[in-house]
Order: sequence, then structure tokens, then C-alpha cells
Amino acid sequence: MRVFIVHAHPEPKSFNGAMTRAAREALTAAGHEVVVSDLYAMGFNPVSDRRNFTTVADPDTYRQQNEEAYAVAHDGLAADITAELAKLDWCDTLILQFPLWWFGLPAILKGWIDRVFVSGGRVYGGGRWYDNGVFAGKRAMCALTIGGAASMYSEHGLSGPIGSILYPVNHGMLYFTGFTVVEPFLVHAPVRISAEDRAAHLARYRARVLDLPAAPVISYPKLADYDERMVLKAPPG
Ligand SMILES: Cc1cc2nc3c(=O)[nH]c(=O)nc-3n(C[C@H](O)[C@H](O)[C@H](O)COP(=O)(O)O)c2cc1C
Repeated sequence: MRVFIVHAHPEPKSFNGAMTRAAREALTAAGHEVVVSDLYAMGFNPVSDRRNFTTVADPDTYRQQNEEAYAVAHDGLAADITAELAKLDWCDTLILQFPLWWFGLPAILKGWIDRVFVSGGRVYGGGRWYDNGVFAGKRAMCALTIGGAASMYSEHGLSGPIGSILYPVNHGMLYFTGFTVVEPFLVHAPVRISAEDRAAHLARYRARVLDLPAAPVISYPKLADYDERMVLKAPPG
């Protein structure tokens, strides 16, 4: 495997830090290649604006997708975006490693998506989406820590099901760009569990990353299952 880990946590001693180190060690020891973008350590700029580009399509009004398409066609993406795109092209497996913050991605990781997942057919656009997406054939997985207990994130738990909370990431970002989406790897309340339980989670995580090519995936309908209004032709039930 060629695994690209996008790591979004400000503290190396955090459980997220331990997870990324465990993944890198296990994968490397097994002969796989690993590249990590440690977004805080890199000082990655998550703010999406004209600084994404060295080109200008329209100096009067900033329309990001138009600027993206123009920059893709004229080699005008900023160097930090180009570098992240090269890692995405290189990998066959993407891991997003993050703590759940406000039911979503930490801003630095959301900003990474905002800036790096460019239109103009480079990451999406021109009919390249979902199972016809640019990253079709690659796998992606969210690996995350969650402050609350698993029961809170169950079907009838206070927070609601974790699958619904992660839908914008799994479906709206990863499947949208063509990835086959592996079931997320979750660690609940890592700061409130015993050292033995933390070690057990890391052992479970090492096994999961080594098993990524065979790990269970989320089954989404294909483009062909939708009509011209983008509504399922045969909804379940
Ligand atoms: C800004 C912020 C937002 C958070 N939002 C949530 C949340 O929506 N749900 C939740 O269960 N925990 C939430 N937490 C708790 C974190 O998920 C928890 O501290 C983290 O997963 C623990 O892993 P770590 O030790 O690697 O940071 C939040 C924490 C912070 C700092």
C-alpha cells in the first residue's frame, strides 16, 4: 500500500498523535509506504481565498470554483496545494486522522479539503464525481477520536448516530471525489479510559490499517442508480 495520512491535531502527545505513530510504524514495518501531512506541524494555511492561486481568472469578483478551473488549466495552483495533490495522486489509500470537534472536522482539516479538493476536473468537475470520481480505485478512511461515549453516538443516543455525523465527510467529501469509503475507525473518550484500554485501541488500530484493502466499506448507491434529477430511481422500502 501507499498510504497518505492527513493528520489534524495540535498536540503530538494526544491520542491522535499516538494513532498516527502506530499506523506509520505498523505499515512501514510491513513494507508499506507512508506519507504524513501533519497539518499543524506544517503550519498549513486552511483559509481558502485568492492565495490559493498564482493565476487570476477574474480580478473583479472572486468565484472560487472558476478560479480553480482556470488555475488547473494554466498551472496556477499555489505550491502548498500542488504538493498535497501530488500526495493524493501518489497514494492508493487515504486516512484522515482527527478528533471530532463540534460534530465535524477541525477547521485546519476542513480548510485542507476546501483548498486541496479543487474543481476543474483536477479533483472534481466536468462529470468527475462519485463512482466516476478522480480518486476512483483508491480507498479512504476516517480515523477519529470522540469525546463522548459510544452509547451517546448510537441510534437513539443523545448525540445521534455517528454515521449521520460523518456523512458529510464520508459521502460529501470522500465518496464525492471517487474514493471507496472504509468504515471509520472510532476511539471514544480516549482521555477517560485506562492505559490498558488505550493500548488495546492502538493494537486494534494497527490491525485495521494493515487490513485496509479488505476492511469493510460503506455501501453507497452508484450514479447509475439516480435519475436525471439526481433522485434514486428505486428508493429502499
Ligand atoms: C473544539 C472542540 C470541540 C469538540 N467537539 C466535540 C464534539 O462535538 N463531540 C464530542 O464527543 N467531543 C468533542 N470534543 C472532545 C474531543 O473530541 C476529544 O477531546 C478528543 O477526541 C480527544 O482526543 P485527543 O486526546 O487526541 O485530543 C471537542 C473538543 C474540542 C477541543
